Amino acid sequence: MRRRTAILISGRGSNMDALIAAASTPEFPAEIALVASNRPEAAGLARAKSLGIAVAAVDHKIYAGREEFERSLQIVLAAHRIELLCLAGFMRLLTPWFVEQWRGRMLNIHPALLPSYRGLHTHRRALADGVKIHGCTVHFVVPEMDEGPIVAQAAVPVLDRDTEETLAARVLEQEHLIYPRALRLVAAGALRVEGNRVLGAASGAAAALAVPACD
Ligand code: GRF
Repeated sequence: MRRRTAILISGRGSNMDALIAAASTPEFPAEIALVASNRPEAAGLARAKSLGIAVAAVDHKIYAGREEFERSLQIVLAAHRIELLCLAGFMRLLTPWFVEQWRGRMLNIHPALLPSYRGLHTHRRALADGVKIHGCTVHFVVPEMDEGPIVAQAAVPVLDRDTEETLAARVLEQEHLIYPRALRLVAAGALRVEGNRVLGAASGAAAALAVPACD
């Protein structure tokens, strides 16, 4: 059985697109059963709809607080019998209450090599620090922001001519590769979590989850 997966977005949804494309082949172990956004106007929502995927807008602005918003979201996810969640440019902090419902079943993609550069403006900060290697991370979501067991990472070189935009684009290309790979392994039950470490349930699986920098 393919795992019923929802993607949560707030904006353009290019990672969403990559996940949808990967899941469009019948042997992929997850099916994208829903795309939900806290912003009704998110470009990715219209795009998902045009691809024939069920969509839901749960506008956070109409709720009194985070947990009220999340309770509505939770009802929508239950109605669609969602088993796995992928955060893809979802720009809301989640409460421990929500995160606990999805522990071990919710992934996020972050545009940096965690645990470096948690939070926003990662590319700008990486350039300002002069690091030579940057990248992206897919991790299980825990209550602390941008923490949680790391499922997959990809590294890219930082080049002399880089601007925030060119570096972001190089990282984004890798995001689109590692997120579907990570979801495939999680949905297939090919991974186990030991403390902070995500390991292959069978030998070999984890090796697919580190992508070295190349020029
Ligand atoms: C990506 O860089 C992702 O890593 C970050 O937000 C951005 C979302 O882009 N969390 P998109 O909406 O997937 O195009």
